[in-house]
Amino acid sequence: MRFWIHTYGCQMNVRDSEAVEALMVAAGHVKATGEADAEVVIVNSCTVRQKAEEKAVGKAGNLVAEGKIVGMMGCAVKRLGEEVFRRVPGLSFAVGPRCFGLVPKIVAEIAARGAGSARILETGGDEVPEGLSAHPDSARAGSFAAVQSYVTVMVGCDNCCSYCIVPKVRGHEWCRPPDEIVAEVRCLAERGVKEVCLLGQSVLRYRGKDGFTFPMLLRRLQAIDGLERIRFTSAHPGGCTEELVAALRDCGKVCRHIHLPVQSGSDRILRDMGRRYTRDEYLSAVARLRDFDPEFAVTTDVIVGYPGETEEDFQATRSLMEEAGFDNSFVFKYSPRPGTRAAAMEDDVPAAEKERRNQVLLADQETRGLARNGGLVGTVREVMVEGPSKRNKERLSGRDSGNRIVVWDASHGAAAVGSLVRIRILEAHPQILVGEPVD
Ligand code: 5AD
Ligand code: SF4
Repeated sequence: MRFWIHTYGCQMNVRDSEAVEALMVAAGHVKATGEADAEVVIVNSCTVRQKAEEKAVGKAGNLVAEGKIVGMMGCAVKRLGEEVFRRVPGLSFAVGPRCFGLVPKIVAEIAARGAGSARILETGGDEVPEGLSAHPDSARAGSFAAVQSYVTVMVGCDNCCSYCIVPKVRGHEWCRPPDEIVAEVRCLAERGVKEVCLLGQSVLRYRGKDGFTFPMLLRRLQAIDGLERIRFTSAHPGGCTEELVAALRDCGKVCRHIHLPVQSGSDRILRDMGRRYTRDEYLSAVARLRDFDPEFAVTTDVIVGYPGETEEDFQATRSLMEEAGFDNSFVFKYSPRPGTRAAAMEDDVPAAEKERRNQVLLADQETRGLARNGGLVGTVREVMVEGPSKRNKERLSGRDSGNRIVVWDASHGAAAVGSLVRIRILEAHPQILVGEPVD
């Protein structure tokens, strides 16, 4: 069947959708040129906040109304279970985040017996997903997607942050064997991939047999010919050890950027969230990385309006963000998720106050981002070319090792997607650096 996949949510979902695409093609289905051209559309859903779930459910409903055969996969399916068929009447099938490998078989079954009455639900449990290493080989040549790949190193999450639905929907933590990951990355590099991003809910907790650690994995990947850059996400400050810093020092391919969600700067809230670090411990983790490299980019996630968050707690978050000097931050308004510990508490910060706190942190980040980027004016950054800038086709765009977006005028000459170029920074903006090539 001609299929299309519509993805919501995090990089994990992006990666799972890619794997499903590869498995579908291997099973003889055909990737459509777009949603309109597809017979079957699969909506990969997220449920981290209520709005995210509503979007995926709404999209699936609209597609049913358009007469498509519609399936859903991902986190919202696992949370909703049977309920998903009440929320999306006419939905043909739904699979949970650890059984996306069943999609091709289910689609074939539906094609054989007609969509009309099909209602196949496989929410799954803690199984090891099938097809974790499947990558579409039709990677759009010439586009950045052909030179950058996500690689799942672990699935599930054994943390139990009070607000988070992820452990409930993605199940217990399971790490892939190191040899399997190394073989996958080697194979990608042979196909021309220059940059991989290692994915897991908390990658620094990665463990192989016999005490094999995440920094050891970085060392093995560093040795792969053809590979230029290694990124990873997400991280927890507990994993920012001397062993990690030593691996960073020895492994030049590992990018100088960490996404280190802090969630709050108030010790009281952090304790309540079950984050297992204090404000000071978090700041020490950041300091360890910046002592190693002052330009080390640190980005974060923050939740505003967690139950019981006072103005004083909020100000503690503001000051922590300033002390940490985040290069970028993503701010989320607390959204109660059914079945989590925090959902038992009253969601007592009014929506308007959550919005105000959100806006304050965004404005702070604009100022801070500008100041931090301002410090890079005059430096020369090594940038991996991604292609024409989305906003201005006259410009080329790429990222430096710190994941900062760098743009420059295309009139300086063509640069191959995936190549590394040296750009001197002339101008700083809160979210972007503007420069010119040097040789
Ligand atoms: N409400 C708001 N934000 C949340 N996040 C996780 N759970 C919730 C929730 N219930 C945020 C966290 C996490 C990011 C992916 O989403 O900041 O790091
Ligand atoms: Fe797992 Fe905590 Fe991240 Fe949620 S916030 S995904 S529980 S590490």
